[in-house]
Amino acid sequence: MDALSYRHGELFVEDVPLARIADAVGTPCYVYARNQLISAYRAFEAALAGQGLVCYAVKANSNLAILATFAGLGAGFDIVSAGELERVIAAGGDPHRVVFSGVGKTAAEIERALACGIKCFNVESAAELERLNALAGRAGQIAPVSLRVNPDVDAGTHPYIATGLKENKFGIALDEAAGLYGDAARYAHLRFVGVDCHIGSQLTDLRPFADALDRVLPLVGQLRAQGLPIGHIDVGGGLGIRYRDERPPSVAAYVGQVRERLLAHGLADLSLLLEPGRALVAAAGTLLARVEYLKSTDTKHFAIIDAGMNDLIRPALYGAFQAIQTVRDPGAAPGADYDVVGPVCESADVFGRGRHLHLQAGDLLVVRDAGAYGFVMSSQYNSRPRAAEVLVDGGRFAVVRARETLADLWRGESVPGREAV
Ligand code: LLP
Repeated sequence: MDALSYRHGELFVEDVPLARIADAVGTPCYVYARNQLISAYRAFEAALAGQGLVCYAVKANSNLAILATFAGLGAGFDIVSAGELERVIAAGGDPHRVVFSGVGKTAAEIERALACGIKCFNVESAAELERLNALAGRAGQIAPVSLRVNPDVDAGTHPYIATGLKENKFGIALDEAAGLYGDAARYAHLRFVGVDCHIGSQLTDLRPFADALDRVLPLVGQLRAQGLPIGHIDVGGGLGIRYRDERPPSVAAYVGQVRERLLAHGLADLSLLLEPGRALVAAAGTLLARVEYLKSTDTKHFAIIDAGMNDLIRPALYGAFQAIQTVRDPGAAPGADYDVVGPVCESADVFGRGRHLHLQAGDLLVVRDAGAYGFVMSSQYNSRPRAAEVLVDGGRFAVVRARETLADLWRGESVPGREAV
């Protein structure tokens, strides 16, 4: 299902013309298609067939309206900070369906998560295990734990978003993890309920997932043989999407393969936790911007738009490709090749190079597939207020995060010796 379509010569998200949103809300602005979020979630839920839980990776897009949409469908959540936990709760999510990942959980974050009764702590080091045991003891609780093991497989993705190699900071090496589980009796305030792994993001090939499982599942078998009641395997997130010409597996093929590996290792009864982020939200989101200027040099045409790398950093940071198209249907009109750039004073502030577009100054355009790692990675660099966010539901839309004002830029700042500004 594609939420974006040309109708009567202009681009719609679901049943709302993007030009209408630009008129009402201004640009740049993120636009999310609620029904596409729902259908993406349902694909995971259907593939799981009741034997596990989809824990949406909040980091991909943590707007309360997005979280509330998934909470309403019964989702669990994968969090990496106290901020994400509070967002889930504020959005009506169930803390009992929360798993807590991340290498650097602070004592305060752990205490808050214990108080909320989260489903599982995905622990990433021996030191964290000690801390969690001590804090759970102090709180008079038994904390549910899975160790995030690092299977040392190459995810075949961008090095910045690969996490499953032993040189990465993530997880615990398999043999060390086996030792820590073996010491379970030492940790009086922990209950070892699962095993966790996550090898990277934007994986478009099933192979690395299978390789990781083939390394991790024997550990589960071994732990059960030792009498540890391991009830779930959390396979993390990472399923990729099509930004250009990638051919990612379907959700059904992905989950099907995980099941097949469980079966092959005699572990078909394990409950399956998934932590998808990108695959749930990327395609449902669009960054809507306006062309401020067209500018040509001897060698190039530039389209300078009112969104910048501070609004969407993926192309600048990872060299990521995201498709760009005009809101006015170009039909057969002749175009030119443009470098689509933002106003930020950095040469990396480029959304796409050599994109064939039919453009005039003042035109609206969209950067597609911006629902994941878009707004959440945005900043105020160059003192640019963060963009508005809009949720479309069929023929209606609502602003779900107001555009920041100029005064928001220096909120909390002060000049010593002077009255508040
Ligand atoms: N679980 C854990 C433990 C993770 O670290 C991540 C992502 C996920 C789940 C969700 O992965 P996904 O299904 O979205 O691939 N900013 C980068 C992506 C960073 C991913 C970080 N961890 C980007 O824009 O491509």
